[in-house]
Amino acid sequence: MKKIGVLTSGGDAPGMNAAIRAVVRTAVYKGMQVYGIRRGFNGLINGEIDYMDVKSVGEILHRGGTILNTARSEQFKTEEGMKKAINVLKVFGIEGLVVIGGDGSFRGAYDLSQRGIPTVGIPGTIDNDIPCTELTIGFDTAVNTVLEAISKIRDTVASHERTNIIEVMGRHAGDIAIYTGLAGGAEGIIIPEMPLDIDNLCKRIIQGRHRGKTSSIIILAEGAGKAVELERIIEEKTGMETRATVLGYIQRGGCPTAADIILASRMGYHAVELLEKNIGNRVVCIRGNKIMDEDIKEALSMPRTFNKELYDLAQVLSI
Ligand code: F6P
Repeated sequence: MKKIGVLTSGGDAPGMNAAIRAVVRTAVYKGMQVYGIRRGFNGLINGEIDYMDVKSVGEILHRGGTILNTARSEQFKTEEGMKKAINVLKVFGIEGLVVIGGDGSFRGAYDLSQRGIPTVGIPGTIDNDIPCTELTIGFDTAVNTVLEAISKIRDTVASHERTNIIEVMGRHAGDIAIYTGLAGGAEGIIIPEMPLDIDNLCKRIIQGRHRGKTSSIIILAEGAGKAVELERIIEEKTGMETRATVLGYIQRGGCPTAADIILASRMGYHAVELLEKNIGNRVVCIRGNKIMDEDIKEALSMPRTFNKELYDLAQVLSI
């Protein structure tokens, strides 16, 4: 394979630029031509495609977001949209594609592969909710962004002797909440994967107070509820002044951590290696610190598990 394309799709994530850079530079190193496709699958349909060389990806390693922009594409889900996309690839002579994004993006990658365009997915999302891989690009950076916020919020809850319930992203997954709750020493973690026992949570807050813990931090995954709703309930049940913080989109930006840059670089390199051998319909993943790849359909059908060991550990250490 001599001519490939790369695009980013779905919610952006810190480290996506490192993955783009790895795809472009690995392709150039292997004597391939590489094209950047703007605005995800929408841009593919509209032919928003630029030739890329090593300079195109200079000075982007430290930048969050994606230089190719991203978008969610309803049109691509239609047969007409798919046909337009395939036609554009043929016009540009692009023989294979790297799609950096989440599970929704991989469905598009699967559809293209089924229609004869070898496509490789790279898991780029802060949610860490792709079952075939232990880590997704952006997750580590988002965790560290939340930790910085927890540290700042801990100052004010200590001053006011309050409880603060911090709502974090993750869509339907609780990984950001589990990792930040454990690393941030939160007194409670609420995730969609575990039923919420609000009475037990409030009892732990009150017991903590009796042991001299005059302030508490609760981490709530957005898939398990709304901080502003739980704020009132917790205040009523504990008698402690309670405030809610919704961290929102700061979790999607910022300079990627070294861990995310290295993960993205390894995954980008592996994706191009696959396409070079005309291998498509794969998702690049990491397990046991080894970079590997899975059939896209397999990857999309794997059951999602969550890290119960970390969740249970956080429960113990926050007594
Ligand atoms: O998938 C990444 C993510 O940030 C989720 O954690 C969040 O729920 C969602 O995207 C927000 O989507 P949008 O950027 O379309 O508002």
